[in-house]
Formats: sequence, structure tokens, C-alpha cells
Amino acid sequence: MAIKLDESDQITVIGLGNMGSALADRLLATGHELTVWNRTESKCDALADAGANVAGTPAEAMSMSNTIMICVLNHEAVQSILSSDGVAEELNGRTVIQLTALEPDQSIEQGKWMRKHHVNYLDGGILAFPADIRDGVAKIAYSGLRDVFDNVRPKLESFGPNSVFIGEQVGMAPLASMLVYARYYGMTFACMHTAALAAAAGIPARKFLDLTGGEKAWQFIGRTMDDYVTMTEKRDYSTNEATLDIDASGYDFFVRLSRELGVDPSFHEMIESVISTAIEQGRGNQAIPAIFEVLIDH
Ligand SMILES: NC(=O)c1ccc[n+]([C@@H]2O[C@H](COP(=O)([O-])OP(=O)(O)OC[C@H]3O[C@@H](n4cnc5c(N)ncnc54)[C@H](OP(=O)(O)O)[C@@H]3O)[C@@H](O)[C@H]2O)c1
Repeated sequence: MAIKLDESDQITVIGLGNMGSALADRLLATGHELTVWNRTESKCDALADAGANVAGTPAEAMSMSNTIMICVLNHEAVQSILSSDGVAEELNGRTVIQLTALEPDQSIEQGKWMRKHHVNYLDGGILAFPADIRDGVAKIAYSGLRDVFDNVRPKLESFGPNSVFIGEQVGMAPLASMLVYARYYGMTFACMHTAALAAAAGIPARKFLDLTGGEKAWQFIGRTMDDYVTMTEKRDYSTNEATLDIDASGYDFFVRLSRELGVDPSFHEMIESVISTAIEQGRGNQAIPAIFEVLIDH
């Protein structure tokens, strides 16, 4: 399908919740000719006062620009918009950027619908809060056809210079951004578990934070993770620093300590079990990222 170049400043935003209204505010502030539609029309008032066009229906909103962003609550909301009168016809040949958070099977369904209706389609995962969008410092991941991404990139960079193109398979970007949240929960859980151990041992949380370096500790983890990801890319975990044998030799202490202090030990039991499996596989002389091989082969 030929992709119509969209060099205009026109853009439509569908959905003016907390995130959609931030996208719209930013597009207007960066000089775009903006059209908006929202189910509850009163949420369009402030944008209309600031110079945006307000459409009466989704189809009318889509007819106003070649590039359309959708950011509503969920898949059901997207479906109700796409199935409304005139939308499928109006979208033919235009570009849609889907910023509603969708699960992988929902992304695939959306991708099929867009292909069937000859829509140039990108989907995205927003790794930012509305305030970051308004400040133009947001990070957003996108997937879909590379040509479509390159075409609309100047518009996307209104939200921040750090747009990341993940790949051509629709759904990859929303999934990648969800995995960032999965990592966030894992890291937060690890922090809270150690905070519980410290508190149970009578070490004040603030002193423990000072000892662990506060925010700087995360920078250290960031650097280490870069090296670890390189190891997983090469599937080479050789090390002359710390081996899994050394990690394993002291690890049961954390399990025992958790039990002794009355703190749930299951977190450390799980880590101990994965390390033991890696050693059983003959990886005792490898570095700790070798646990990737155990996890991926579960
Ligand atoms: N807020 C964040 O920090 C953030 C961060 C990353 C990703 N996201 C994602 O961005 C998306 C929007 O989030 P949000 O924070 O803007 O949510 P929100 O403030 O709750 O707004 C929801 C939007 O969806 C619309 N909507 C809900 N059901 C609808 C339906 N059946 N038909 C048409 N429109 C419908 C609402 O319209 P009405 O005004 O008429 O109710 C409203 O515009 C979500 O998928 C969210 O996961 C949000």
C-alpha cells in the first residue's frame, strides 16, 4: 500500500482523558492545526478556547486530518469508536497512531482491522505521565510499518525527542512498554522486600536508604544491566569477576534470614531455586545473567 506523505500540520486527537488532553495540548502548543473529539463533549471546551477544531462525531474528526491519534480507555472504547458511523470509510488511506494501552491479542485484532480498511497504522506504548507529554520530554515506543513511523516522526517528536521504533510487528511497542512496568514492579518488590528485612532487623528505613545510595543505586543498576543485556545478546556469560557458584554459596542466608525475621521468604526462595537450576545445568562458572537461560527455558 502506498503511504500518503503527511507533511501538513493537521492532526486529530480522539479521546481527551488525562492522557489524550495532554497529547492535544502539546500538539496545539507546538503549532499543529488540531481537531479533537471526545465522547463527553464538554472536555473539548478548553481546547476549543485555545484554538482547536471540535468535531461532532468520530468520523468528522477523522475527515479533518490525514493523521489521527487515538488515546482512549481501552480496547472496548476503541472498538466502539471504530464501529461508529462512517469511520471505516473515512479512515481509508489515512494514518492512525494508536496510543490506547492494548494487550497483545487486542493489538493484533486492531492491526487486522486497520489492514482490512487500508489504514497506515502504528501503535505505541507511552512510558510517561501526562505532565511529561505537556513538557515535551516523554518517551514513547512505537511499532508498525517503518515508513509510516518515518513519515509522522516530526509530529511524534512534539512529545519528546526520544521516540523509539521497536519493530514492524504491530503490538510490539505496547507489549515492550508493559514489560517496562513489569520490571518496575519487580524492582519495587525487591526494594520493599529488603526494606521489610531491614525494618524487621530494627534498621530504620531512612538509614537503609542512605546506605544503599538512594537514587544513585538505580544508576549503578542501569550500568550493570547494560552489560548483562549484552551477555544475553551474545549468549556468553563467561566472567572473571563473580560466578554463580560464588552467588549460590551465600544465597541461602537470605532465605534463612527472611524466615528468622518473620518476613515472607518466597522471593529469595525463588531466586535460590533459579540459581540452583543454572548450576545443575553446569553454569556454576558463569556470571549471574546466565539465569536468563533458565528463565527463558522454563
Ligand atoms: N494517564 C497516564 O498516565 C497514562 C500513561 C500511559 C498510558 N496511558 C494510557 O492512555 C489511555 C488513556 O488513559 P487516560 O489516563 O487518558 O484515561 P482517562 O483519563 O480515564 O480517559 C479515558 C478516555 O477514554 C474515553 N472513553 C472511555 N470509554 C469510552 C467509550 N466507550 N467510547 C469512547 N470513549 C471512551 C473517555 O471519554 P469520556 O471523557 O467521555 O469519559 C476519555 O476520553 C489508556 O489506555 C491508558 O492506559 C495513560
